[in-house]
Amino acid sequence: HEVRDGIAYPVSWLEIIFNPSFPYRFSHMFTAAYLTTSLVVAAVGARYLLAGRFVEESKTMLRMGIGMVAVLAPLQLVIGDAHGLNTAKHQPVKVAAMEAHWDGSKPADLVLFAWPNEAEERNDYEISIPNIASLIITHDVNGLFKGLKDFAPQDRPPVKPVFFAFRVMVGIGMLMIAAGLIGAFLWWRGLLFNARWYLWPLSLAWPAGFIAILAGWWVTETGRQPWLVYGILRTKDAASPVSAEAVLTTLVAFVIVYSIVFSMGIYYINRLIEKGPTGASVKPSEGVPSRPLSAAEEAAHEAIDKKG
Ligand code: HEM
Repeated sequence: HEVRDGIAYPVSWLEIIFNPSFPYRFSHMFTAAYLTTSLVVAAVGARYLLAGRFVEESKTMLRMGIGMVAVLAPLQLVIGDAHGLNTAKHQPVKVAAMEAHWDGSKPADLVLFAWPNEAEERNDYEISIPNIASLIITHDVNGLFKGLKDFAPQDRPPVKPVFFAFRVMVGIGMLMIAAGLIGAFLWWRGLLFNARWYLWPLSLAWPAGFIAILAGWWVTETGRQPWLVYGILRTKDAASPVSAEAVLTTLVAFVIVYSIVFSMGIYYINRLIEKGPTGASVKPSEGVPSRPLSAAEEAAHEAIDKKG
């Protein structure tokens, strides 16, 4: 790659596809998928247990789900931090927007809440902890990193969506860490299955991972604007000459098709959850089967006999 102004730009298509952020994106997304699934399993387990249904199964679901969240949520924070440091190196204006950091000549505060004011290039209603963003990004409380004002307005992404989506993702990540650690503690103390104050919010938390994934994706894609390939190809220069009507028609078709597919999927999954774990698992046959597949054959015969 070529370094200009302290920023590493790719110089070949190979570098664009296998870019340096790939290991971070891959591991962050991989953990995100397991985390999201684990939370759904734990939430469904909590829902059953609160309703007094499938008690044994729900305890297994809770142990599995909470065990995974307790390990993966802190890991996601570590990977996310490394991901952010990599982004600071290759797409610094995205990090400036994520942190709503305007003035790169001063150490950056960790902005907990603000209303970024793009017209006046500052934050309104800001609540922040001094110098902590500098500590996170540069590992030095007085460290400097580029602010939004270091980039021409036409080279900045829209600040508000990136800033708020980042807070939604990290906020949910923090809640997941708390849920995992509190759950693991209750499990260790033998209190988990009776802690209704914990199980009730957990039973409602199933969408959290999906929302965090969408928010993260939003940060990544909106934060890269106005570039398609950072510093090299602008999105507007890459747009195909397709009429607005054609784009709108395709978009509407996508929305309709996906709405149908997702509604059916959600309906079907809810039916499965409502029905619960049914059907006896295959009973082990007497003694050890002589051939590995004989147990499976037996189960198949049993199923056919039952049908007949
Ligand atoms: C715990 C604190 C977290 C931190 C510090 C963090 C950090 C980051 C950063 C810096 C990015 C954007 C990087 C870039 O575009 O250059 C990102 C993207 C993303 N994050 Fe997080 N994250 C956290 C939690 C989560 C959680 C809990 C989930 C989902 C369960 C998640 C899912 C994602 C996804 C899907 C992306 C977009 C990945 C891509 O398109 O390459 N993050 N995260």
